[in-house]
Amino acid sequence: MTLLSRIPLVMDVDTGTDDAVCIAAATLCTDRIELLGIGAVCGNVEIEKTARNTLDLIDFLGCEAPVHIGASRPLARPLCTAVSHGTTGLGDVALPAARRGFAEGGVTELIHGAAKRHPGGLEILAVGPLTNIATALTECPELLALIKRITIMGGAIRGGNMTLASEFNLYCDPEAARIVFESGCALTMVGLDVTLKPELPRHIFDRIRAAPGPQADVVARVLDFMMRRKDEFGADDPNLHDVIALAAIVKPSLFTFESYYVHLETGGEVTRGMTIADFNNVSKRPPNALVAVDIDADGFWDWFVDLFGAGK
Ligand code: RIB
Ligand code: CA
Repeated sequence: MTLLSRIPLVMDVDTGTDDAVCIAAATLCTDRIELLGIGAVCGNVEIEKTARNTLDLIDFLGCEAPVHIGASRPLARPLCTAVSHGTTGLGDVALPAARRGFAEGGVTELIHGAAKRHPGGLEILAVGPLTNIATALTECPELLALIKRITIMGGAIRGGNMTLASEFNLYCDPEAARIVFESGCALTMVGLDVTLKPELPRHIFDRIRAAPGPQADVVARVLDFMMRRKDEFGADDPNLHDVIALAAIVKPSLFTFESYYVHLETGGEVTRGMTIADFNNVSKRPPNALVAVDIDADGFWDWFVDLFGAGK
């Protein structure tokens, strides 16, 4: 893969434990992606924490990508945070304070600037609520012609994790999700249908802990929190949702994708944020998303350990 064919990428994150794993992995994918910048959005925890976690993390990893502070609340609802990431959002992982500050301007400026530098080639990886993405698309309609693809960790065509029907990121800001799904941008939806499949095996965790380098170091500490949370508190299995969405960009052969028109429901206590795939073409609307419906979980873990230098 030559340097010239790297994917120009902007990430939007709500760091968050699994966001941190995704960011660390992205900093190791320099052969496949050129990380142009990272937007922080409220979600797992408040914006002050997601932004701080993101900046401290990439500074610790020696990554120079600018971090822009985004939305402090969803478009039309109060913020509902997730409990499973601990009070800081990074579990009990403490990082040294970043030696640099946040970049000037919001996430719309980040995306717009990147899109103008890479017209038709910019890709976005959104692994938190879609508030920043929806805002950028609304404030700069010209982005539609400039953005090549938006890959979203969110939704599910079968079940949820926030309610029985909807997934946290889209539940958090369903109005923003509706704007993105109806925008006409090329979308890849990496939802719970695939992100719940690879559950972190203990032997993978052990190999990451033994691997060298700052990325493996911080990921091992995050995974340790996630494993303790499961063992001590009976919480969810450690699902690394966000890095699976990154894998869909840099290693798409691990996935099975199907094209559907996906309706984004905003109403209802249980159905807010629900993604409903039009399997029977009832809407007569063209597909608006490439939906990841299956994953080679063993192949994903092979990719994951190799990336972090924890190979055989
Ligand atoms: O539902 C999983 C998603 O919600 C992940 O992005 C996790 O970080 C949380 O934001
Ligand atoms: Ca996230």
